[in-house]
Amino acid sequence: MKITHYGQNTLSIEIGSFNILIDPFITQNELSKDKVDIMQLKADYIFLTHAHFDHTLDAEAIAKNTGATIVSNFEIYNHYAEKGLEAMPMNHGGVRDFEFGRVKYVNAIHTSSFPDGSYGGNPGGFVITAEEKSIYISGDTALTMDMKLIPMQTKIDLAILPVGDVVTMGVDDAIIASDFVECNRVLGVHYDALPFTKIDHEEAKAKFNKAGKELILLDVGHSINV
Ligand code: NI
Ligand code: MN
Repeated sequence: MKITHYGQNTLSIEIGSFNILIDPFITQNELSKDKVDIMQLKADYIFLTHAHFDHTLDAEAIAKNTGATIVSNFEIYNHYAEKGLEAMPMNHGGVRDFEFGRVKYVNAIHTSSFPDGSYGGNPGGFVITAEEKSIYISGDTALTMDMKLIPMQTKIDLAILPVGDVVTMGVDDAIIASDFVECNRVLGVHYDALPFTKIDHEEAKAKFNKAGKELILLDVGHSINV
C-alpha cells in the first residue's frame, strides 16, 4: 500500500491498480488548495469517516469526476445515493470485501453532522487490510477503549491518528492510542489545517520517540509505503 497525505485527514491509498481516497478536503484547506488539483486525483472508492465539512467537502465533485463509489455509514451513504452518486453503506462493526482487500468500519468518539446541520450518522474509522498488511484510519476521534478491540483481530502495520488536539485526540492521547492498537508506527493527521490545531512538529515527534514510537508527519503530497 502506498499512502499519500493531502492534508487534514485526506489520504490517497494505492493498492495495486486501485485508488482509495479518504475524507477529501482540499479546496478550502489553505495548506493544500494551491498544491493539489482535485480533478487530477484518482479514485475508485472514496471512504468517508464522518460528515463534517473538513472530511466531505470535495467528495461529491471528485465522485462525479472519477465515477468513484462513496463508502461510509448508512446516513452518509444515503446522502450521496439520493444525489444519484454511486455509494455503498457500511456501519460500525461491519466488514466488507472489496476487489482490493477487506475493510472494517470501527468505532470513533466524535460527532458527525453535514454542513447544513443534517444528521450524518455516527462517526467511524476504517481498518483496511490488503496485500497482507493492515492500516487503521481512526478518523476524528477521542482516545477510546474501543481501540483495544482492533488488535484482538488484526495486526496493525500503520496507525493513522489525529494529533491536532482541540476537536480530536492530541499528541499525548495519540501515543496511548498507539499502545491500544499495538502499533508503534503512526502517521499523524488532522493538524495545522485549522487555526486552533497548529502543532510543534519536532516536539510531537520527540514525544513519540521518547515513548519508543515513530510519528510520521508528511508534507502535502508526500507518501509512505506500508
Ligand atoms: Ni470531525
Ligand atoms: Mn475533522
